[in-house]
Amino acid sequence: MNCGAVQLLFDNLNFKNNYFNYKFPVPQYLGSKYRHLEWIGSCIPGNVNRVMDVFAGSQAVAFYFKQKGYEVFTNDFMSYSYRIGKGLVENGKTRLDGNDIKILFSRNRSEKDFHLMRDLFTDIFFIEKECEFLDGFRSNIDLLENDYKKSLAFSVINRAMTRKVTMGHFAHTKALEYAANKDRVKRNRSLIVPLKDLFMELLDEYNNAVFDNKKDNKSFNMDAVEFINEHSEGMDMAYFDPPYCNSHADYQAFYHLLETYTEYWKDKKFINGTNCYYPKKKSGFVLKREILNSFDRLFEASQRIPYWMISYNDRSYPDLNTMINIISKYKNVKVFKKNYENKVGGKGSVAGSNELLFVCSPRQS
Ligand SMILES: C[S@@+](CC[C@H](N)C(=O)[O-])C[C@H]1O[C@@H](n2cnc3c(N)ncnc32)[C@H](O)[C@@H]1O
Repeated sequence: MNCGAVQLLFDNLNFKNNYFNYKFPVPQYLGSKYRHLEWIGSCIPGNVNRVMDVFAGSQAVAFYFKQKGYEVFTNDFMSYSYRIGKGLVENGKTRLDGNDIKILFSRNRSEKDFHLMRDLFTDIFFIEKECEFLDGFRSNIDLLENDYKKSLAFSVINRAMTRKVTMGHFAHTKALEYAANKDRVKRNRSLIVPLKDLFMELLDEYNNAVFDNKKDNKSFNMDAVEFINEHSEGMDMAYFDPPYCNSHADYQAFYHLLETYTEYWKDKKFINGTNCYYPKKKSGFVLKREILNSFDRLFEASQRIPYWMISYNDRSYPDLNTMINIISKYKNVKVFKKNYENKVGGKGSVAGSNELLFVCSPRQS
């Protein structure tokens, strides 16, 4: 169901400042709302100028808000996501040029300090030569002249890594086996393309997505509740897209390799067959036993933000009615529904379920 088809039509006819000639690089991220952007956009209340994306993930929604001309504060507790926000949402004009690429592709500037990928992931996700390339590239990111360039470099190389593994995540240990499988390679040639080439293939898409919407957009790397506590003053709307508790909620298990690469951990253990870092960051939105309390804390902290939009799925825990009850303590709520076709996704996916959107507004007292 569409919430505001007329509003959408007006926006797209350019009655309002928007920037839809810039394209967000197509993400491959579990739970990404990239394919639901117009639907979400059609539900945004009319009198909104400053918005927060609290669980930004691929940053597709935050970028869409930027395209619509809003001032955007975007956040995720994972650093690889924060880097995309910094490079494509906060950044209004800086791109990577030929000189930056020369720096990034130079040899490892200190093999003594930069060998984490080789040590952890050789023959698990990538062959040794590729891991060494990643370590060298990582050592050189620090040499780029500012944080926007560094963030773009992280965004593109991290995306290249997800392109190079089947299913685009690191929770399985079949990456190299799949890369040696002719049928799989036929379906996805990236499995055998060197990371350096994938980086170059993706670069233009990222550079071309940099634009200035004339607003003071910012990217943050915080826990959701802390983010709300510290940065929600003066915000008109918060968009919440928390992990769907019951399916694929532990983003650290899926994207640990990108986080390890971005943070370049020196003080963690690496465990299980995938060499996932340990201890993990505390989410609060993964386990059934913590989720009710986490939603309560999140919504209580967000009371002063007039409008909320919350993406949800009707297979998640807690169920729809429980969610309505929790939200209703603070806001009026309307629920909109969109069906996933059965052909979408594989085992344990969202196929056949409904994507929900809670649109919440101030309660009349
Ligand atoms: C469903 S995904 C968001 C997808 C995003 N809207 C998109 O379109 O790509 C949920 C995100 O919540 C983040 N997350 C989980 N716990 C968090 C917490 N406590 N604070 C901030 N972010 C958190 C995860 O890292 C993940 O990226």
